[in-house]
Amino acid sequence: MTQVLQIEHITKRYRRRGRETVTALRNVSLSLNRGDLRFVYGPSGSGKSTLLLCAGGLLRPDQGVITLSDRNPYALTSEARSQLRARHVGFVFQQFHLMPYLSVIDNVLAPTLASVSTDDQRPRAEELIERFGLVPRRNHPPSELSIGERQRVALARALLHQPMLLLADEPTGNLDQDNGKRVMDALREYAAAGGAVMIVTHDRELRDADALHLVDGALTA
Ligand SMILES: Nc1ncnc2c1ncn2[C@@H]1O[C@H](COP(=O)(O)OP(=O)(O)OP(=O)(O)O)[C@@H](O)[C@H]1O
Ligand SMILES: [Mg+2]
Repeated sequence: MTQVLQIEHITKRYRRRGRETVTALRNVSLSLNRGDLRFVYGPSGSGKSTLLLCAGGLLRPDQGVITLSDRNPYALTSEARSQLRARHVGFVFQQFHLMPYLSVIDNVLAPTLASVSTDDQRPRAEELIERFGLVPRRNHPPSELSIGERQRVALARALLHQPMLLLADEPTGNLDQDNGKRVMDALREYAAAGGAVMIVTHDRELRDADALHLVDGALTA
């Protein structure tokens, strides 16, 4: 049982200019081991996206400690932190963040475009495109895709380099039942193969018995 992510007592406040401070996370602690698939369920505004950004080394909490693959990303230089993220973390963002001028296949390969290994990853990228039913859209840019198709491209991209930790923000939020099942099956399989997956969602249907509940920035059982 290897620990992949440990979140200890983190608090995050946003300071809105000229206005009140918003406390988005209050004393949140959780941990994930290899093989875990964990749901964090909560209503809009409860702090789900903030939690994922803090967990993945993209947003520094005000208090508390994150340990990602045995290191605290916020104690590293920003360059070392980027490397830690690139190596170990896959993000499926709520807004996808696809590159508008790249085709589906090149978006999936985007994490490797800056390195020499693009060709090594191509068969895996093609496999993911097939798996998520994107073959007919392979050469299209995101602007020509439905929202659900974009969501699946974002997931394929996040899985490409087989990150130890996959952080997914509403990964089935825009999908019909069949595609939602396809995505959830892929995530479960990813965890079963030794990855750690954290899914944040407001979808009650997705919750399981171990789901954590986030209310107004605080976790409850
Ligand atoms: N950049 C920001 N500046 C100021 N306040 C923010 C910022 N981002 C989020 N917030 C506030 O922090 C709280 C938590 O936001 P967050 O985006 O984490 O919620 P969420 O659970 O992901 O919501 P949703 O389900 O709508 O995506 C909200 O009250 C939100 O308004
Ligand atoms: Mg959100």
